[in-house]
Amino acid sequence: MSTLSSVRTAATDRLQRRLWDRRAESWEKEGSLGLESVIEAVLRTASAGPGTVVVDLGCGTGQLSLPLARSGAEVTAVDLSPEMIRTLTAKATQEGLEGISGIVSPIEQLDLGPETVDLVVTNYTLHHLLDADKQRLVKMAHRWLRPGGRFVVGDMMFGRGASARDRSIIASKVMVFLRRGPAGWWRIVKGIVRFSLRLGERPVTIERWQQYFEAAGFSDLSVTPIVAEAAVVVGVKH
Ligand SMILES: C[S@@+](CC[C@H](N)C(=O)[O-])C[C@H]1O[C@@H](n2cnc3c(N)ncnc32)[C@H](O)[C@@H]1O
Repeated sequence: MSTLSSVRTAATDRLQRRLWDRRAESWEKEGSLGLESVIEAVLRTASAGPGTVVVDLGCGTGQLSLPLARSGAEVTAVDLSPEMIRTLTAKATQEGLEGISGIVSPIEQLDLGPETVDLVVTNYTLHHLLDADKQRLVKMAHRWLRPGGRFVVGDMMFGRGASARDRSIIASKVMVFLRRGPAGWWRIVKGIVRFSLRLGERPVTIERWQQYFEAAGFSDLSVTPIVAEAAVVVGVKH
């Protein structure tokens, strides 16, 4: 058995599915700040080609999966939201893209065979996982990858204010939403509650990601900061 063990319950599954199903239509328009540059960086780092076997964790409506499939990769796109997978599949069908299949599942319950994939990618999803699940996932990704395979993580990566970098990221996020007027102020209040109580928004620092990668056995680690809050971490399985 190669799934992540997790404290997910049927109730949290249902809640999250409903939340993300509702966001499927708006996500591409209202996604996080600088999301496009992070997506580009993940794709550049992934550098997949024809026949590369890829798993995209928390694929959303296909911002990574679709370009990867266009480059000839065989993509398994995983997301807990049926609506995200439905939208992704409709886009792939409309484009006549082959080599992409969607799986509706929480990442924490994903079951893949050892050494069956060349590349694991993920963008702006893993900060939603509990820290223990992030760590277990990095270990599982290492297990799923063939020797020479890579794990590429793009995500917001900062802590809760212990470093000057954390504080400057948090301050700049607050400023952006302040300028948006009452709707933005409401986002700040929600953000503060979710971030302080770690309800759904659980980013960790770049250093923590590096520790998870090293502990799982990845080598040749590289880290690229992209926009203020986000970075891409990649490791190779030897
Ligand atoms: C912020 S969106 C990012 C989507 C896409 N990767 C992108 O770069 O635009 C996060 C996605 O992860 C999915 N997600 C969140 N938690 C998940 C989990 N535990 N298992 C599977 N999918 C999850 C959500 O349904 C959503 O589609």
